[in-house]
Amino acid sequence: MNTTSLEQRAAHTTPLFDAIRAFVDRQQAPFYSPGHKGGRSLPREFTERLCEWDLNNLPDTDTLHCPTAGIRDAQRLLATAYGVAHSHMLVGGSTAGNVAAILAALAPGDRVLVQRNAHKSVIAGIVQVGAIPVWLPPAVDDRFEIALGPSAHQVERAFARHPDAKALLVLNPTYFGTTPDIAAIARVCRARGKLLLVDEAHGPHFHFHDELPTAAEDVGADAVVQSTHKILSGLSQAAVLHTSAALDPGRVQKCLQLIQTTSPNFAVMASIDIARMQMVTTGREWLDRTLSFARAAREELAAIPGIEVLAARDAGPAGSGFHRLDETKVLIGTRGLGISGRELQARLNREHGVQPELGGSCHVLCIVTIGNVADDLHRLVSAVRSIAESRPRRDGVMPHAGGSRALLAMEPEVVVTPREAFFAPAAACSARAAVGRVCAEVVTPYPPGIPALMPGERITESILGELLVVSAAGCPISAADPTLATLRVVA
Ligand SMILES: Cc1ncc(COP(=O)(O)O)c(C=O)c1O
Repeated sequence: MNTTSLEQRAAHTTPLFDAIRAFVDRQQAPFYSPGHKGGRSLPREFTERLCEWDLNNLPDTDTLHCPTAGIRDAQRLLATAYGVAHSHMLVGGSTAGNVAAILAALAPGDRVLVQRNAHKSVIAGIVQVGAIPVWLPPAVDDRFEIALGPSAHQVERAFARHPDAKALLVLNPTYFGTTPDIAAIARVCRARGKLLLVDEAHGPHFHFHDELPTAAEDVGADAVVQSTHKILSGLSQAAVLHTSAALDPGRVQKCLQLIQTTSPNFAVMASIDIARMQMVTTGREWLDRTLSFARAAREELAAIPGIEVLAARDAGPAGSGFHRLDETKVLIGTRGLGISGRELQARLNREHGVQPELGGSCHVLCIVTIGNVADDLHRLVSAVRSIAESRPRRDGVMPHAGGSRALLAMEPEVVVTPREAFFAPAAACSARAAVGRVCAEVVTPYPPGIPALMPGERITESILGELLVVSAAGCPISAADPTLATLRVVA
């Protein structure tokens, strides 16, 4: 067959549609986002007529960029439900929320303290506004090889060293459900008159149950970004930005207009409205059930030889970078099985029809939400038990990946802002030749997912050396060239 006829045949296929259909047809036990888990927590009327709900700005449906009717009212109800001054619906996920919050709170040249394991959307916001970040290295949990949060003391010290910093940007919680002492951090910010901006992408449920970690909006954070789709009943991309009276709502709206589509998906926005109504009316009860499912599964999993599960009792004291755990996140440690989290995740999927959210170096993350049913958890526990009993590695325990501690201690020199580095001409050059040059990309080794280099930072012999050590130990590196043969540098 010649190339043209192959192309013609390919034109009649739908590879993405087919892949999604095949995935959905397998009916796996869902431990990933979105939180509605195939629509289970959404009203049937909504899921059955989803395409009819896919509308655009019409006189009857309101307009996201200048809401005067249903969207405005839904946003007011969101603000009341979460006890904040203003809430804004987002159709671009927490990514849009983080960028908008940064644009609204900061100006070019402002200094801002930022947790170094921030999501890439935070770095995008910093590039867009042209702020000067002061990176706070987070604590690390060595057992699970995950990055945690900064301590309140660390924040206090950083503000003392950089009194001109205008704001602090932190995660509450991390992807893995650990939270810093957000109340203590909020007190530090308040005492110093600094803005507190919080990426709470994984915490839109905290406010509705007192056995969940403290919600940033409950301790007076100035901007809180939540992915309604990750944990609650929102469709993918559904998210919310809450702001305090310290941020001018007109400016926030203007920033949102810079980055949000003018053709928002109305089904996505309707799902935010439904998710809020559910939390206000039945949230406590539904979250009780979710917590009890997750706690029971955690206990059963922890009793399996070779398996460890991150528990609430692993949290540290008040003020620490790991103060509380969202117990609906079940983080399974695989070190005792002698296999990686990636391998466990693949076997759960392939052999047992169980799909976790992610598999890392030595952990697998399962997100349990109001959309899960008891049978999902039984399937997870029996699948992990069966894999553990097959004793994947008879000779035991996986070594620690190592290397990351040395990298964490390095604190590279900031030569230019991330914005300057982003817009400067850049080129790939051999890693050896990159020593002494200014990095033009984010280079992140996993574990623990904390960038070793940010755009604008000096590449040194020792940083490159440590990166090569962790790469040689088999740790994946997120970079333009994951082999690290080359690095992108400012030309
Ligand atoms: C901590 C954190 N913040 C922000 C985001 C971006 O959220 P979204 O996917 O809703 O844009 C993510 C996505 O995984 C995240 O984990």
